[in-house]
Amino acid sequence: MSFELERLQVRYGAVTAVDGVSLHVKAGEVVALIGANGAGKSSILKGVMALTSHTAARVAVEGRALTNAGTRTRLLAGISLSPEGRHVFPQLSVRENVDLGYPGRDAVERRARREAMFDRFPRLREREAQAAGSLSGGEQQMLAIARAVMAGPRLLMLDEPTLGLAPIVVRELAAAILHFARSGIAVLLAEQNAEMALSVADRGYVLQSGRVVTEASARELRASDEVRSAFMGM
Ligand SMILES: Nc1ncnc2c1ncn2[C@@H]1O[C@H](COP(=O)(O)OP(=O)(O)O)[C@@H](O)[C@H]1O
Ligand SMILES: [Mg+2]
Repeated sequence: MSFELERLQVRYGAVTAVDGVSLHVKAGEVVALIGANGAGKSSILKGVMALTSHTAARVAVEGRALTNAGTRTRLLAGISLSPEGRHVFPQLSVRENVDLGYPGRDAVERRARREAMFDRFPRLREREAQAAGSLSGGEQQMLAIARAVMAGPRLLMLDEPTLGLAPIVVRELAAAILHFARSGIAVLLAEQNAEMALSVADRGYVLQSGRVVTEASARELRASDEVRSAFMGM
């Protein structure tokens, strides 16, 4: 099992945003986290990255326990997050933003990883020297994903990567997500857009008020009346 999470809790003061969530993602698998706005998707990803106050019974990557580790240790162990809202540095160039994702010091390795990201997202290469703030929303999303992949993750977490983007860009991102998974990365994809998420995912978890209410294959979730009426407007 590439990634294991047991009984994650995230609280904000008196608010329990995530209440005992357990999940796993295998290497090469895309797993969707679907749920309405406020269901706790982002809080799970932030808790896994140790970016918010949380507790868990177990957090492990490739069998290595990281339950009490901080963000940097988790990053170096192979957990990486592309956050909701992209958060690229607008004044820095595209290349500088990409490079920020590499936590090491080896300039040759950094360049090799950057070239691989530019091969995957040619529009970023074309705009390499441009300020990130001048990119379109879709390009900024590609940049945020590229920066996250620069860390060399075993688990790549993507928070709402398609929010507000045109269908053609969504398809491009879906292809990139599948590509990363097929290269052996475990992908955890948080999306309000259940249709998109379940079109690329192998499995999915449905969240409601900070709890997992359903876990099933993407095929079963796509066919489920509850999922269709709650998340696909059908
Ligand atoms: N920084 C915060 N402070 C207080 N409450 C928060 C904070 N972030 C999220 N919440 C609350 O936690 C719950 C889950 O939010 P979130 O994880 O952002 O859900 P989702 O990503 O599924 O929309 C919501 O009730 C939200 O209002
Ligand atoms: Mg969110």
